[in-house]
Amino acid sequence: MNVVRARIVSNERLFGRTHLVWLHAPPLAKGASPGQFLMFRILNGSDPLLGRPMSYHGVRKGAEGDEVALLYQVWGRATALLAKKAPGDEVLAWGPLGRGYAVAPRARNLLLVAGGMGTAPLVWLAEQAVAKGKNVSFIIGVRTAEQTAPVRSLPPQAELVIVTEDGSLGRKGLVTEPFAESLSWADQVFACGPRPMYESMAQVVRKARSRTPVQVLLETNMACGIGLCYGCAIETRRGVKQVCRDGPRFELREIF
Ligand code: FES
Repeated sequence: MNVVRARIVSNERLFGRTHLVWLHAPPLAKGASPGQFLMFRILNGSDPLLGRPMSYHGVRKGAEGDEVALLYQVWGRATALLAKKAPGDEVLAWGPLGRGYAVAPRARNLLLVAGGMGTAPLVWLAEQAVAKGKNVSFIIGVRTAEQTAPVRSLPPQAELVIVTEDGSLGRKGLVTEPFAESLSWADQVFACGPRPMYESMAQVVRKARSRTPVQVLLETNMACGIGLCYGCAIETRRGVKQVCRDGPRFELREIF
């Protein structure tokens, strides 16, 4: 884990409350993988005092070294302050943290399922998987069409299935239906979204009696992000686990 003052390269609003920030932070990029997260804290002042976790959305080579992307929604003081930061400003950040998605070397067909902001880590996973020659089918479920903006950068080799609750783009409904249709095709499933989405997916898996491994990312409140405070502890079928250190990636069956 590295602790750095990360310089903001760009910080733009994509739609609604959703923003994309790129940070110049080579130590945070080194060794990071999709599904891992970093903690960030606004410099100057003690409000908010604690750091905030955010999933990696991507890593790229910048003019002066590696840069890290974070896709975030403005909810609360830390993200509201972050949204006001301009290129050249700095934030304190530490990472990479946690256990990210684990793609089995032999897996050929990867099914990705994102609910809302769950696109944040999965877009990067899709890019990496396509670059390695895997077959990727990416189901994204959002309320309305404009919320699909984060998947614009997906490589064309990835099959994209868009589901909107209001029917403004793609299929109308929830991700559960295309997930059920594609489950038997997949060697592995990777998901990120709200808990009700995971509960619905678990029902589909049970009904289909599927043995396909399904990895999900869990989101909880975190204070330290490094296994010290136990503020992120959860009950699993294998006992109490810390989301920050044992996760945030868990097997769906371990939790739901
Ligand atoms: Fe402190 Fe996980 S956030 S132990």
